[in-house]
Amino acid sequence: MDFQALRKEYEDQGLNLEDLGIDPIRILRDWMEEATKKSPGRWFEPNAMSLATSDLKGKVTVRLVLLKGICEEGIQFFTNYDSAKGKQLAENPRAAVALHWPYLGRQIRIEGVAEKTSRQVSDEYFHSRPVGAQLSASVSKQSSVVPSRQALEQEKQVLISEVGDGEVALPDDWGGYLIRPDRFEFWQGRSDRLHDRVVLLRNKSEESDEWEVVRLAP
Ligand SMILES: Cc1cc2nc3c(=O)[nH]c(=O)nc-3n(C[C@H](O)[C@H](O)[C@H](O)COP(=O)(O)O)c2cc1C
Repeated sequence: MDFQALRKEYEDQGLNLEDLGIDPIRILRDWMEEATKKSPGRWFEPNAMSLATSDLKGKVTVRLVLLKGICEEGIQFFTNYDSAKGKQLAENPRAAVALHWPYLGRQIRIEGVAEKTSRQVSDEYFHSRPVGAQLSASVSKQSSVVPSRQALEQEKQVLISEVGDGEVALPDDWGGYLIRPDRFEFWQGRSDRLHDRVVLLRNKSEESDEWEVVRLAP
């Protein structure tokens, strides 16, 4: 494979600190909306984000999850609390995510501290998913070794007959995380690789809670 030939040119759409403002949640919402509107097709998931977590020994793991909520406090995703990521977050709640929209030449990086969402938030989201996905989440002890695919499908069939027409209960080990961010980076690809990088850092003290804005070299 010729990696030299893989060279994308970025259009010169700039990023000015003045235009961005100092409310990172608003910028995230704006960029997310634009990314969704201009999405190249239904096959593309504009809310897919890489999520990095680590344990206390410094072992780092990354995987994709779906961004499922943006609120004033931060961003939400849903998963299994006993999965590898859930165990790492229990040891070390610091998390980092990256969203990438290649058709806009944009990336957002977010760092912060993750905490479990309330059971009510998890329950509402769980039951908003298609029933098939609820059943699959209930039988999947995410990240544990399974004897075979067939074994998983059998477990799902057993649960289907147990549940009948009733509601699938929210599993104890399933729910959301809220990442409370303390660092955002907005990246805009520019021509000749002289890209824009704008970072917002949270300065929180007893007296104030402000975002400091700086520009980084690309
Ligand atoms: C596009 C995409 C979206 C995904 N979204 C989620 C998600 O929202 N929650 C989740 O638990 N896993 C999601 N996964 C699966 C994870 O990448 C991963 O395989 C799983 O969470 C187990 O990760 P862990 O063993 O590191 O905990 C997604 C995978 C892909 C490719």
